[in-house]
Amino acid sequence: MSLTLEKLVIQSLDDVKDKSGKIIITKSDIMHCLMDAIGKDKSYIIANHDVKIKNNQLIKFNFMLDSLKQGTPLAYVLGNQLFYNYKYYVNHDVLIPRPETEIIISEIISRGDNIFNSREKFNVIDAGSGSGCIGLSINSERNQWNIILIEKSVAATKILNKNYHLESRNNCHIVMGDWLSAFDENTANIIVSNPPYIEPESAEIDKSVIDYEPMMALFSKDQGLSDIRRIIVESRKVLKKDGLLFIENGFDQSDKVVEILKEHYYEDIDIILDYNNIKRFTISRSP
Ligand SMILES: C[S@@+](CC[C@H](N)C(=O)[O-])C[C@H]1O[C@@H](n2cnc3c(N)ncnc32)[C@H](O)[C@@H]1O
Repeated sequence: MSLTLEKLVIQSLDDVKDKSGKIIITKSDIMHCLMDAIGKDKSYIIANHDVKIKNNQLIKFNFMLDSLKQGTPLAYVLGNQLFYNYKYYVNHDVLIPRPETEIIISEIISRGDNIFNSREKFNVIDAGSGSGCIGLSINSERNQWNIILIEKSVAATKILNKNYHLESRNNCHIVMGDWLSAFDENTANIIVSNPPYIEPESAEIDKSVIDYEPMMALFSKDQGLSDIRRIIVESRKVLKKDGLLFIENGFDQSDKVVEILKEHYYEDIDIILDYNNIKRFTISRSP
């Protein structure tokens, strides 16, 4: 006998308790799986709580719930993640876009609007694009800017391509490459990167991140600073005069990043905090 939508949610909440009775998966995650399994939104479920779930929908829902119980992050279970109000495909080959990274999009748009000049090509590079959440969101917001998305991982580039085709795009290009090595000097107005920045031996990182997200998106040698350093050095060549570098860093790396930027003569260095008041981004100008 099939269950109503309401009974299924109640039964699932009961089903996801650990031995001590603590609920280990949130009701919100269960609702997301149910919405996906039946192809309807939350208001439909509330209004139709007494509707019975179809057998094929129940099989899909149970499969998703099992994956959640095993520890798979919700975004990988659903196969997508909302970022800056755009939905992006994700799988284990790309980092799940994080809410804190959205902060940098608004900064780039507001600073970019101040320096954009429609008479010349305005080049923005997203280095280490992964799902494409940074570069593609900027393209969706400002399609007169020329956006170049760089990614080294072949597997990640497949997802990046899928996300690229979610919209009909102008002035947006995917390039497979190793950071900024493919670019000529003095070509970019803005470079943005959320690079791998976790020290490989770090004890601070969640098990669900290590177990499910791609190593290449996470880890960097030299206390997590090796890729950040490379991007800072290479950007100095590729940025035009007064071009801006936006870079994300780990929770305890900001002072070190500022030091590296100063070593390479960047100016007007600003630090942007994330939602937890962590110094998460630097914005700096190449003189
Ligand atoms: C932390 S993830 C960020 C992904 C995405 N920009 C985001 O914010 O969700 C870093 C990305 O850099 C890519 N990457 C790592 N080394 C690279 C390199 N040498 N050149 C280009 N991309 C690289 C990884 O494959 C990964 O997709």
